[in-house]
Amino acid sequence: MFPTPLVRLALLACLLLSSVAVASEKAILDPEARFHPVVSRGGMVVSQEMIASKVGADILTRGGNAIDAAVATGFALAVTLPRAGNIGGGGFMLIHLAEEDRTLAIDYREMAPAAAYKDMFLDAEGDVDNLRARFSIHSSGVPGTVAGLIYALDNYGKLSLKEVLQPAIDLAREGFEVSVDLSESLQARQKTLKKDPASRAYFYKPDGSGYQPGEVLAQPDLAKTLIRIAAKGRAGFYQGETADLLIAQMQRNNGLMSLEDLANYKVVERTPVCGIYRDNKVCAMPPPSSGGVHMIQMLNILEGWDLASLGHNSAAYIHRLVESMRRAYADRSQYLGDPDFFPVPVSALTDKAYAGQLRKQIDPMMATRSEDIRPGLAKVAGSRESSETTHYSTWDQWGNVVSNTYTLNFSYGSGISVAGAGFLLNNEMDDFSAKPGSPNGYGLVGGEANAIEPGKRPLSSMTPTIVFNPEGQPILATGSPGGSTIITIVLQMVLNIIDFDMNIAEATAAARIHHQWLPDTVFYESGISQDTLTLLRSMGHQLNDKTGVLGATESIQRADLGGDKKASVRYGAADYRRAGSGAAVQN
Ligand code: GLY
Repeated sequence: MFPTPLVRLALLACLLLSSVAVASEKAILDPEARFHPVVSRGGMVVSQEMIASKVGADILTRGGNAIDAAVATGFALAVTLPRAGNIGGGGFMLIHLAEEDRTLAIDYREMAPAAAYKDMFLDAEGDVDNLRARFSIHSSGVPGTVAGLIYALDNYGKLSLKEVLQPAIDLAREGFEVSVDLSESLQARQKTLKKDPASRAYFYKPDGSGYQPGEVLAQPDLAKTLIRIAAKGRAGFYQGETADLLIAQMQRNNGLMSLEDLANYKVVERTPVCGIYRDNKVCAMPPPSSGGVHMIQMLNILEGWDLASLGHNSAAYIHRLVESMRRAYADRSQYLGDPDFFPVPVSALTDKAYAGQLRKQIDPMMATRSEDIRPGLAKVAGSRESSETTHYSTWDQWGNVVSNTYTLNFSYGSGISVAGAGFLLNNEMDDFSAKPGSPNGYGLVGGEANAIEPGKRPLSSMTPTIVFNPEGQPILATGSPGGSTIITIVLQMVLNIIDFDMNIAEATAAARIHHQWLPDTVFYESGISQDTLTLLRSMGHQLNDKTGVLGATESIQRADLGGDKKASVRYGAADYRRAGSGAAVQN
């Protein structure tokens, strides 16, 4: 169900890099820690692809702020990490503005085209046609990334669009050295990508063979699109030549998206969903992501126990995590969708009294069966998303923070590229419930809240998060890919930091678990002891022994130096679960 194990080489590289960078900061890090983060007294960028992290850090060095760095990193990832970095997808950006002491959320999730309709993925028998939903021209929502990144830059950045786009343009035009990760992921996805002539031409050599690590991949059509965006801003993508190429692609295949859909795409600035957990404020993405709501809900349930005393990843601890996850994901199924179309009961779901009721239902010794759980406020998780998405975090010298998660949905999205424009289209329409009330291809049932409607945004699990200490200062920016597992991964990052006092590298390295109500299964990474697994089984939990790895957090933590609140350092941890990720520091 989840990705295969990581390339261990990346761990080694990360640890070597970390131990070099940390040498001068031993005074503030526990020298006994098993894992050490990268340290910076200035700004920092952590992403799933090191070239893009360096692009962002360079923007910081040139005087840009965390938002400039985030926009530059986002456009660079569209070139260097084409499986998830994108301009043909969408996402969510959480920003903390230090001077205003304000945290905001930018929703640039894809929107269903105006001609989309509820049953568009049902076949003649009324069953969901998964190929049509995931790998066809109909799989794509109207892309939001370009509008979202430009919105962030225009409103909160300091540098010009040309300045932040130039590194991505150079990488696309001149090419960059293909990494082991890119070479392998293109090979793994070749069956899908080679079905589309444009994707075949963009990502494989003329004879159809793949790029080997160290060979140079140039993307001249993508460079031209990025140049149009740099010259014309939003209009360089949603109007004119890029828009014409995208709609021509649609029309050749009877796609639903129109020029009008592109022109009508809207970015929405939203108020993050925040909760207080052990005196720390935790802020994350509100609907149309389910991430923030359910992370706060689970934290509220878990706050009633002294988790630290149970021991990290002990059976007693994992049992409580699983039971909290089970209940939150049951609620997700019924109550979560696009808030512009469905009244999502955010306050009720994040209410501490409601969490108390759910906690009371939990037997400390025995697992509840998921079939005995129903959405509590009044049935079933929305469609399970693919694990291919990507997160990055940026932090500048002035204390501004960005936590950004964006995606094409599946690895390389629908596999279809816009011919002439050089970018892949998302398959985010599959994040809608194609057939509300019936199990989808993964055995999950979706609700009316997330049914397809024109102009609606599909429900997401992306959980970009910023945590604040009791004094109100940001102490953590984190997030992850992982589809439905994103929320529980980010939850465990927060718990590792707050309850178990881990540094960000330890928190990242720690083994993760996941439960999502349905299937009634505990997914777990290697690193949970056999004793613990035996105890969990004896409590009635069903365990998936073939989980692989869960997510890839790219996080930054802030720590004060001594008693002087003005002097602080940034600790960065790229996740070794994905080869090629990296933390880059401002010079
Ligand atoms: N497509 C993954 C998500 O939005 O959660």
